[in-house]
Amino acid sequence: MNNKTDNPTEKKLVKEILSMKKKRGAVILAHVYQPGEIQDIADFTGDSLFLSQQAAKTQAKVIVFCGVRFMAETASILSPEKIVLLPEINAGCPLADMAPSEKVKSKIKELPEAVVVSYVNSSAVVKSLSDYCCTSANAVQIAQSIPAEKEILFLPDMNLADFTAKKAKRKIIPWPGFCPTHHLLTREDVIKAKKLHPQALLLVHPECRPEVCDLADYIGSTRGIIEFASNNPAKEYIIGTELGIFHPLKKNNPNKKFFPASENMICRNMKLITLEKVLYSLQNLEPLITVPEEISKKSLKALNRMIEIT
Ligand code: 13P
Repeated sequence: MNNKTDNPTEKKLVKEILSMKKKRGAVILAHVYQPGEIQDIADFTGDSLFLSQQAAKTQAKVIVFCGVRFMAETASILSPEKIVLLPEINAGCPLADMAPSEKVKSKIKELPEAVVVSYVNSSAVVKSLSDYCCTSANAVQIAQSIPAEKEILFLPDMNLADFTAKKAKRKIIPWPGFCPTHHLLTREDVIKAKKLHPQALLLVHPECRPEVCDLADYIGSTRGIIEFASNNPAKEYIIGTELGIFHPLKKNNPNKKFFPASENMICRNMKLITLEKVLYSLQNLEPLITVPEEISKKSLKALNRMIEIT
């Protein structure tokens, strides 16, 4: 938690949030794609894997998840006895929506021998149909834990599937989904950015297209990108992921320069959460995210397998 705003309205809101948080015994988790002022009031910020680990082990009674719906659902599956709040109920994920459960069910029927690995960016029902979950930080590790002779149905992100298949050397059948924010980044955008900043290293998220990943110096989760930039001596970086990541990158590395691979890499859903909505959530204990018990129990198996392997 690190909010040092000079804006009096924001200051007042932050004060109210902190006092309400204490009253409720709540913890605030924020993904690094969240607006900067939300990341600054969070107890923990990070990538999907780190936040799900925090959700699984927190002692807090209430989890305020500043992210998108699948993240809050994952927290609820991992900690079903907790009150999980998503301050904006309409914060969804178009990638998760590209794998509707009925279509996933029929694909699984077509491929009875395949091991089903679903990216955490999927609905709770899709997770419940899966053998394993994974995040962008551990997809390769999860795939490598599956015997090489097995076919893997990987959903819903085809770009992450491609990256995982190449790295893990596994036979992967990709689901034809993609994250619109990452998929919009083209090879031409990257070549242009590299020409403008010839000294900069290119760091991208594996949800980017394969031809973009081919040009990268490093491919990793948002946490991986932050760690790479913080630990590497290079002074300039071109970043190929959602622009919210510039907040921790700049904060942790005031002497380094960061340039977006494309100014258009903005996830509108991630930007729906505001300080006012976080306060409302804490005051009213809503919007509440719950997952039906049967789905939650089945999804938990796939999530726990991931957590054990990682
Ligand atoms: P991370 O696994 O890096 O948090 O990525 C999450 C995500 O939603 C990317 O679009």
